[in-house]
Amino acid sequence: MKGHRFILVGSMLLVCALAAGSAFAQAKARSEDEIGLRQETTLYDETKAMPAHGEYGKAEAGKSKPLGRAFENSPPLIPHDLTGMLPVVETNNACLNCHMPEHAGAMGATPLPKSHFFDIDTGKDLKGQLDGKRYPCMQCHVPQVNIPEAIKNTFKADFRSKKSRTSSNLLDTLNEGVKAE
Ligand code: HEC
Ligand code: HEC
Repeated sequence: MKGHRFILVGSMLLVCALAAGSAFAQAKARSEDEIGLRQETTLYDETKAMPAHGEYGKAEAGKSKPLGRAFENSPPLIPHDLTGMLPVVETNNACLNCHMPEHAGAMGATPLPKSHFFDIDTGKDLKGQLDGKRYPCMQCHVPQVNIPEAIKNTFKADFRSKKSRTSSNLLDTLNEGVKAE
């Protein structure tokens, strides 16, 4: 009885394998040179491969329009021109001049959120002092360039509130679902 069942399963697998094999055979085979998204050069030639270039937004800080969040509590994209603000170095971080909470109001800039004054690793409130890991802003916040997508992005974010589309509250929600209320 058991032996029969093995033979039956075995022959079913064989049928499936043959069917799958013929389906693969029908699809057009691609050579290694044709793989990838690049149109002009093969993956084996880096000499002519150039990253796509586009224009960054030119609106200066104070005149740009925030871009909305990619998903809830994602680092917001930089909507304004960065001319003269970079690089961020140990002795100079122009971003802080406008985004530190004490300056933000007067500059019309979004103040740094609570999470940037908190050491998430140790759970320590740094009492208004910027966490060192937040100093290099450009590690997480980036400006946008207007270029066509290589692959259309179909990701759709779910926002739990209207407010979360345009502002952050990570520190208040970080332990949601982890810590018992
Ligand atoms: C001269 C003041 C100024 C400087 C310097 C500045 N910003 Fe801004 N930033 C603003 C203002 C004002 C806004 C709000 C949009 C507007 O009015 O242009 C803004 C918006 C933003 C936003 C979007 C916030 C949101 O809620 O969507 C991010 C992110 C940001 N800036 C990051 C930076 C980073 C990173 C630097 C340093 C490289 C920087 N900014 C330097 C004034 C400034
Ligand atoms: C390690 C990544 C990281 C670094 C570095 C970082 N940020 Fe953020 N930032 C985030 C994330 C993630 C959020 C959104 C979630 C949150 O923290 O509330 C955010 C939120 C913000 C917001 C929106 C605040 C609001 O209330 O909506 C501003 C403005 C901002 N950051 C500016 C800066 C500036 C300026 C610097 C540099 C001094 C910086 N950030 C450094 C990750 C980072």
